[in-house]
Amino acid sequence: MRSVEPFVSTAANDAPRPLVSLRDVHLSFGANPVLNGIDLDVFRGQAVSIIGPSGSGKSTILRCITGLLKPQSGTIEVDGTRVDRLASEHDEIALRKRVGFVFQQYNLFPHLSVLDNLVAAPVRILGRDKKSAIRHAHELLARVRLADKAHAYPGQLSGGQQQRVAIARALAMQPDLILFDEVTSALDPEMVGEVLNVIRDLVRDGMTCVLVTHEMRFAEEVSDAVFFTEAGVIVEHGPAARVFREPASPRTQAFLARSLAVGSDARSRDSSVVVHAPIKLDLSKFAV
Ligand SMILES: Nc1ncnc2c1ncn2[C@@H]1O[C@H](COP(=O)(O)OP(=O)(O)O)[C@@H](O)[C@H]1O
Ligand SMILES: [Mg+2]
Repeated sequence: MRSVEPFVSTAANDAPRPLVSLRDVHLSFGANPVLNGIDLDVFRGQAVSIIGPSGSGKSTILRCITGLLKPQSGTIEVDGTRVDRLASEHDEIALRKRVGFVFQQYNLFPHLSVLDNLVAAPVRILGRDKKSAIRHAHELLARVRLADKAHAYPGQLSGGQQQRVAIARALAMQPDLILFDEVTSALDPEMVGEVLNVIRDLVRDGMTCVLVTHEMRFAEEVSDAVFFTEAGVIVEHGPAARVFREPASPRTQAFLARSLAVGSDARSRDSSVVVHAPIKLDLSKFAV
């Protein structure tokens, strides 16, 4: 399978240093402790999911990785760069070129065509030649299955299509990794699948991805590793198959049982929702 990401490692004997590494990260907003000693590693080519209840610190972890938030203590490295110590705006911009971030709100420029949304940053920030940026943008639009929308404006697209443009826009910067923060949460149910399909393709192509998601079956299907957070602590982490099928912590068990129960309620209310993967968790095992 062809990969358009030039940073994907294929060598078998690469040093096993993580691309992203958080160690004992503590962060408070005023008197509110939000991250209470986070340790997390992401290796090149991995898909890592962070799951956990609302308010448990998932988005804060992602914002720390991008350098948008500075922890009070602990270390954060992205490919050897100490993100927690970035001193200048220049260094912060350099980091953000390497770390793509896709949010729930896609925030496309409404006055620019889809193509121009994809071309603007590579030309202005990376200094890419406009012709090659346009060529790359067309390739990316094909990759997110929107080849025919290059000249549309964001307002003419569905939420799912806009989110796929936002993913293509992140890819246009040729980042080392992409962080996805609940990118399907604001979408109508029938559009969730098309966005997840695009992310699934990226993961299969070897893009390093960190996913914060409520789509538990999708997280189980695509992730190499899963981290379960609660109250700013990683309660449990491990290979996706293990964490989803045999969660060790009662907290993880209760969360998964609750999430999967909510998911099946939603599906029974709306028959158009596609089930992305078989349910592997045996709910009967859990005392909740
Ligand atoms: N900019 C901020 N200022 C103050 N408190 C914040 C800010 N961002 C997040 N928080 C608080 O930090 C906690 C964790 O938030 P967040 O990381 O967004 O959780 P999650 O993504 O898991 O839902 C919440 O209690 C939230 O209210
Ligand atoms: Mg969040």
